[in-house]
Amino acid sequence: MGVIKNLKHLQASYEGCEACELKCHRNKVVFGRGNPKHPMLMCIGEAPGRAEDQSGLPWEGDAGKTFWGLLRKSSIDKDDVYCTNMVMCRPKGNRDPTAAEMRACRSRLEQQIQIIRPNALLLVGRIALNLLGYGVGGVAANRGVIHEVELDGGIWYAVSTYHPSYLNRTQSGDIQDAMVQDMHLAWSAAEIVSQYRSEYASNPNQACFRELNSKSKTAIAESTQARGAALEGHGSARRSEAESRRKDHDTREDSRGRKKLRLDRRQSVD
Ligand code: URA
Repeated sequence: MGVIKNLKHLQASYEGCEACELKCHRNKVVFGRGNPKHPMLMCIGEAPGRAEDQSGLPWEGDAGKTFWGLLRKSSIDKDDVYCTNMVMCRPKGNRDPTAAEMRACRSRLEQQIQIIRPNALLLVGRIALNLLGYGVGGVAANRGVIHEVELDGGIWYAVSTYHPSYLNRTQSGDIQDAMVQDMHLAWSAAEIVSQYRSEYASNPNQACFRELNSKSKTAIAESTQARGAALEGHGSARRSEAESRRKDHDTREDSRGRKKLRLDRRQSVD
C-alpha cells in the first residue's frame, strides 16, 4: 500500500477515537497536515488549540501564523514539512495534555512517523520533549543539538525548539533568532539523512540503517561545526542587533511596570 493510502487508513481508524478523556470536549480530531511522502521535516507540536479544534488542521491560530512565518524566515518550504501534535484532541482551556493522554496517543504518533518516514523531526515546544524521555528538562536545555529518538522500528534525528506561543507572549528577538537557528539545524540533519537514505534505499535493512546512522552522525557533527564557525562570523552583528532589540523591549516594558512583571514570570516557562 502507498503512503497516502496507509495514512488515510490510519486517520480513518482514529476518527471516533475514545482512547482518552480528551474525547469529551473535542470538536474535531486533528490528525495532521502537510506533505506525507517522506518530507524533510515532521514538526511535532503540543496539542490543537481552539482554531485547530474548529478546522481539524494543525497550526491554524495565532501560534500557527507565527509558526508558518518562522518556517518562511528559515527558508523552509511548506511543501517540505508535515505537521502533527503529541495529542490529536484539544485539551479544554488549552491546558497541557496529561501523561496519560500522551500515552494514549503515542502509538498513533509512532505509526504516523513510520508511514511518513520524514528525514528528521522538529519538536516544537516543551510538551513534545516527552519524545526524548522523561525528565530531560526544558527547551532551553535541549535546543541547539541533534537528538536521537528511538521509536519502534527506527532511530530518528530530532531537534527541539521553543513553542511559537512562547515567542508570541515574550516578543523576544533572541527567542526568534534561536527558533530560526533550530529550524536551520533540523534542516541540515534532514539534508544529511536524505543524502544517505537514497544510498541505502535499495537495501533498507537494519545493518544498513545502523551504518546510515553512524555516517549521518559524523556528517551532522561536521556540518554543525561548520555552521558554528559561520555563525560565529555573523556573531557580533547579530549580538548587537539583538542587544538593541532587547533594550528597546525593556524600555517599553519599564514604562508599564506590571506588564513587565507578568512577562518575566511567563518567560521562565518555555
Ligand atoms: N496548534 C497546533 O497544532 N499545535 C500546537 O502545539 C499549538 C497550536
